[in-house]
Amino acid sequence: MAEKKAQLSFDGINESFDLPVYEGTIGADVVDVSSLAGKGVFTFDPGFMSTASCESKITYIDGDKGVLLYRGYPIEQLAEKSDFLECCYLLLNGELPSAQQKEEFNSSIKYHTMVHEQMHSFFNGFPRHAHPMAIMVGVVGALSAFYHDNMQISNEHHRMDAALRVIAKMPTLAAMCYKYSVGQPFIYPDNTLSFSENFLHMMFSTPCEESKISPVLVDAMDKIFLLHADHEQNASTSTVRLAGSTGANPYACVSSGITALWGPAHGGANEAVLKMLSEIGDESQIDKFIARAKDKDDPFRLMGFGHRVYKNFDPRATVLREACKNVLAELQMEDDPLLKIAIKLEKIALEDEYFIERNLYPNVDFYSGIILKAIGIPIGMFTVIFATGRTPGWVAHWHEMISNPFKIGRPRQLYTGPTLRDYPDK
Ligand code: SDX
Repeated sequence: MAEKKAQLSFDGINESFDLPVYEGTIGADVVDVSSLAGKGVFTFDPGFMSTASCESKITYIDGDKGVLLYRGYPIEQLAEKSDFLECCYLLLNGELPSAQQKEEFNSSIKYHTMVHEQMHSFFNGFPRHAHPMAIMVGVVGALSAFYHDNMQISNEHHRMDAALRVIAKMPTLAAMCYKYSVGQPFIYPDNTLSFSENFLHMMFSTPCEESKISPVLVDAMDKIFLLHADHEQNASTSTVRLAGSTGANPYACVSSGITALWGPAHGGANEAVLKMLSEIGDESQIDKFIARAKDKDDPFRLMGFGHRVYKNFDPRATVLREACKNVLAELQMEDDPLLKIAIKLEKIALEDEYFIERNLYPNVDFYSGIILKAIGIPIGMFTVIFATGRTPGWVAHWHEMISNPFKIGRPRQLYTGPTLRDYPDK
């Protein structure tokens, strides 16, 4: 890394510190503050608004320009020309696969789509109405019970095997969550189908009849997985990295990512968007909800709007907006009342000073929820779909971290609690 320098000086300390500055291939420079602890000084950055937690070569986001690159390739081009499994290969290996590599990778994934039969019994312990994310946290973590003994994370082949296994098994477990909730038997994967076709088959087929899935819906499903595949150091990926930095089993690390993703401020937003649109209920109520979103005393936020990094349109939302229109046209649902509210809400918000001043644009979750609902996926499953799509990103970051020298993640704090005091004599 090319070294420039930053100088840090403090009132009351007549010493100033020279700190190395590193330049990335694109994007912001970073100031290496790791030496400050040795001088008894910490930086303070709640929410990590200004903190780069690691070096990575996987994904780059330019929030001001609305740019998202997977290993340098723009998300718009990948959404148009690639598919989800090819992007999984790209995120994990750094380059697009040759035709043979792609075929071998797809075959490896298909080889791991089934889960151990004993996994089926885990589901019976959950109430039928359990939130599918609660089940996914449990059953994905439980995979570590089946692949623990022969798992040496220092072995690159073991790491890649774990990555392929969890990418392959997520859609199977996701569909099992749905089947369990509706009291239908689990449907085994059909490895003659593509990844996204197989997922919809496991979701909607029954032992009595095969589901007939339109290619338009399969394409939209694959785009949703692809667009969610990675997003640099977001909350859930940072959670996976932090768990992985302790040397924890990779399936347990992915389970920690699922846990973090569940929150409505993160991956739970697509579910929250649909609940919000249903709560708005009618175009005539939109102004009331916009006013609530602006009211500092009201915790209500416009779900599907705003982003920690994108202060421009989320490029994934742009792609999904088109896919949304195609899906609704294919299903003859252009008059869907929730879509009409969503389009009106987007128009009003984009013209409103409050949202313009704060660079609050529709994000990936604003349209993904409408597409998933149109496909017939229940709202409770939306974040499970997000988790299935994000799994290659989680495991690619975990693999990148473990493949290079790393330290256990252990932030410090600004302590403002009681000073030293003795336990009172009784
Ligand atoms: C994802 O990190 C990632 O990469 C995430 C993700 C990924 O792929 O991993 O992209 C996926 O999580 C997308 C975001 C999904 N979440 C939502 O749609 C929930 C609604 N959005 C907000 O909760 C919010 O926008 C966040 C959490 C997404 C971002 O919050 P920030 O960056 O911490 O911004 P902020 O809270 O500091 O807001 C800045 C201002 C505040 O107003 P002021 O105090 O300056 O007056 O904007 C306001 C906020 O009140 N604001 C909103 C708003 N989002 C921010 N006001 C109304 N509605 C909103 N949605």
